[in-house]
Amino acid sequence: MRADAVHVRAPGKINVYLGVGARSDDGYHPLATVFQAVSLYEDVYAVPSDGFSLEVAGAVDVSGVPLDDRNLAMRAAKLLAQTAGVTAGVHLRIRKGVPVAGGMGGGSADAAAALVACDALWGTDLGPRGLHDLAARLGADVPFALHGGTAVGTGRGDVLTPALARGRFDWVLVLSGQGLSTPDVYGRLDRMRMHGDALADDPTELLEVPAAVLQALLAGDARDLAPVMMNDLEVAAVSGRPDLELALADGVRMGALTGIVSGSGPTIAFLADGPEAARALQDELKATGREALHVHGPVPGARIID
Ligand code: C5P
Repeated sequence: MRADAVHVRAPGKINVYLGVGARSDDGYHPLATVFQAVSLYEDVYAVPSDGFSLEVAGAVDVSGVPLDDRNLAMRAAKLLAQTAGVTAGVHLRIRKGVPVAGGMGGGSADAAAALVACDALWGTDLGPRGLHDLAARLGADVPFALHGGTAVGTGRGDVLTPALARGRFDWVLVLSGQGLSTPDVYGRLDRMRMHGDALADDPTELLEVPAAVLQALLAGDARDLAPVMMNDLEVAAVSGRPDLELALADGVRMGALTGIVSGSGPTIAFLADGPEAARALQDELKATGREALHVHGPVPGARIID
């Protein structure tokens, strides 16, 4: 890698709690969510170039990742250049560790990392506020990938308030070979609610994160957190996917405190009672032929690696 390239690492996320309100006229849904950044990373290298180009490799299947303007990292670089009046280009090299279309915000992490990397490469020095504003324009989850840690998200998920979380939480992720499209999962939830599907709760009037969730995070107590975790999108993500329902049941049977679909899925996040329990759970899940990873959170947001 060239000495003048900038390397930025950004984390994937789990939604520990995800309350979804009724669809707004702009097509988005108001959220009350808690994000936690976990130790599964996207590495983005920004290399000086005259034009804009992109290459993607990784530990996960990257065959579905677009290399043109549909790629959120490419859009991030161009948006920053346009906003700051930069005439130079960039070649982005992305190494993915977060599953593609997995509900863990991998594409959003790429965009956040690209913003931080290009800001350093071009010396545009937008600062946290400037980068946050661009991030929010790129996608609902991009601001959180910049900030990392544990945070409450409201609005579209882009209005962030840091949440205090003590200690570390151990998660075991079960990956699925077959990704899910975020807009499709939101659309399915809307239809299930419209048809009065008994499994899909109506949107609550009062959309807020329960105090019990924040207290469990503050106390760093996985046993307290497990019973109050919730994801309104889960019912839509698992409908027509018996493999996901089976994985959720298996993980709990194998000793997880609880299991939840991450964001719009299909990745499943199991909360474990500490690192030892997580390793044992990971082994048991792998023994059934599943791809299982042990990660922990919270971890920092997008940052430059020397
Ligand atoms: O903002 P982002 O591009 O990540 O969102 C992808 C899609 O997910 C949106 O087009 C929308 O269909 C859905 N979405 C939503 N409400 C949110 C966030 C995302 O309906 N708060």
